[in-house]
Amino acid sequence: MNEECKPELLNELTRRIDSAGGITFAEFMEQALYHPDYGYYTAPRTRIGKQGDFFTSSSVHSCFGQLIARQLTQMWHLLGAGAFTIAEQGAGEGHLALDILDAIAEEAPDFYAALDYRIVEISADNRARQAEALGEHLVAGRVAWCELPELKRMTGCFLTNELVDSFPVHLIEKQGGELKEVFVVNSAEGFVEELRDLSTEEIRDYLNRAGVTILEGNRCEVNLAAGPWMRQVAEVLERGFVLTVDYGYLADELYAPYRHAGTFLCYHRHQTNEEPYRRVGCQDMTAHVDFTRLQMVGEERGLKALYFGQQYQFLMALGFLELLIEMQSRETDPQKAQAIRMNLKTLVLPEGGMGESFKVLVQGKNVGQPELLCQKKIRDLRMC
Ligand SMILES: C[S@@+](CC[C@H](N)C(=O)[O-])C[C@H]1O[C@@H](n2cnc3c(N)ncnc32)[C@H](O)[C@@H]1O
Repeated sequence: MNEECKPELLNELTRRIDSAGGITFAEFMEQALYHPDYGYYTAPRTRIGKQGDFFTSSSVHSCFGQLIARQLTQMWHLLGAGAFTIAEQGAGEGHLALDILDAIAEEAPDFYAALDYRIVEISADNRARQAEALGEHLVAGRVAWCELPELKRMTGCFLTNELVDSFPVHLIEKQGGELKEVFVVNSAEGFVEELRDLSTEEIRDYLNRAGVTILEGNRCEVNLAAGPWMRQVAEVLERGFVLTVDYGYLADELYAPYRHAGTFLCYHRHQTNEEPYRRVGCQDMTAHVDFTRLQMVGEERGLKALYFGQQYQFLMALGFLELLIEMQSRETDPQKAQAIRMNLKTLVLPEGGMGESFKVLVQGKNVGQPELLCQKKIRDLRMC
């Protein structure tokens, strides 16, 4: 049976599936996450942090935003230190925006004065939470909300943290030598899966272009929505950078033969599960990001990949260690100092942390081939 969480959403999905005779998993996921009234991201709920369902890097420690602010400040200088837009799509509780704006206001007041921080956010509930978090910067006239097309001709940096992993994915399986797609249908037991022919040839085309072969019996995800999204971002950006942080891999690793069940997961109260038909609308659903797809589509639209690395390398290059030492030395309470260490370790540790599975992609448009701060090699870092 479908576990009741939002009966209205279950009824609507059941009706939709009945009238279509089955819907793709991607459509099911889109409704579960973004139904205008009952979706996981749209209905009022604490999603991120201790009281929510999952942590993001920006909810772990303000140091994440402070270090990204250093990279953004260098980008501002590289573009001539004039008017500069930071556009953040999918800003959650507004933690990252707050930490970036606080850091820039304190460390680079000239940049702060030239800055227009725009948030593109699908969820009205999140927009309200962001406005609450960003009060001071709102009053200072530095922040506004807009739709993506309104950013047309922007100069600056388009930023996301854990946005692309929350786009709906198509679930694909190789059976009898053929690529098949998971459809969701109604049954007496609730929602169940049925394997059918691909809903669109785009799926096969993309896997072919990425040069990956799915092993017989394996399941994987294809995030088709990431393509049009990347195209739209490339289109609105006239000059500047796109900085994407998320968990994921390049295609050869994402679709590797040993990854039998793909990467799809649900998050509820800090526990993971692989049961998307339970708690529909009350748990997060996500899949690892295919960074090859972002790079491929970006290249076609004038976005040149300037940097791709693991989050720990990115943060270390921007001064993670110095910041850790500085924060520790300022903290006189040993317990609080220990808490700082633990939180910061989460950002860079490979196992059980976010250091390795999280990747950072920086693309540039009309910026040449600048040497970015984040490209500094760990061996060249000054250890204080
Ligand atoms: C996993 S949360 C990440 C939150 C935040 N970036 C952080 O670091 O904590 C995903 C965010 O993306 C938003 N979102 C998802 N799809 C979106 C879209 N197409 N346009 C704008 N926002 C979107 C969600 O409402 C949510 O705020």
